[in-house]
Amino acid sequence: MLNEVVVNGDRFTLFLSEFTIQQRVKELAAQINRDYEGKIPIFIGILNGSFIFFSDLIREITVDCEVDFLKLSSYGDAKISSGQVKLLKDLNCQVTGRDILVVEDVVDSGLSIDFMKKLVMKENPASFRVVTLLLKKSVAKVSFPIDYVGFEIPPEFVIGYGLDYAQKVRNLRSIYRLVPQATTVEGSTQRGEAHAGPR
Ligand code: IMP
Ligand code: MG
Repeated sequence: MLNEVVVNGDRFTLFLSEFTIQQRVKELAAQINRDYEGKIPIFIGILNGSFIFFSDLIREITVDCEVDFLKLSSYGDAKISSGQVKLLKDLNCQVTGRDILVVEDVVDSGLSIDFMKKLVMKENPASFRVVTLLLKKSVAKVSFPIDYVGFEIPPEFVIGYGLDYAQKVRNLRSIYRLVPQATTVEGSTQRGEAHAGPR
């Protein structure tokens, strides 16, 4: 396992190992299996970031279930959220009367998940819950509780296990955090702020 990765000249160190993530995914799935016994939930993955978490989680799910995906706009190359979330791919399933479980990679500002909840609630689901692998609790402004949280993390920029840096490194098996400032790799400029990096 890599202890450090360099992406576009920025240095990242190991934060959550593949093993740690896999253990937690199993725990989350066990909890979900208990809570949804006798129900047939629809797991809705938010693309692109959640695709790896989603596929690991769903294979630990033992209750009958359906899956669907929705794609929301990213923040482009901006370092801070534009405050605008756009729908790039809508759902294909019928939400009305169904138990909906949204799967997110990370809740950061909370804007995406808030947008998602409003969208789903318009269709009157039987229930609405969220599972996120990561929660940046100190910065997330969410008007409702997040039901299942893998790890609460500081508001730092992280990559791997589905999370990208300028669309790259989603394929890393572990999660890495940005090393702030100081070290410059091959003459490139380091970003120092916690949220550095495009979404
Ligand atoms: P929001 O700020 O809660 O709306 O988060 C929106 C999306 O930004 C998340 O679903 C992620 O795909 C992405 N994002 C947020 N924080 C990070 C990060 O640290 N690394 C990579 N992507 C992130
Ligand atoms: Mg995402």
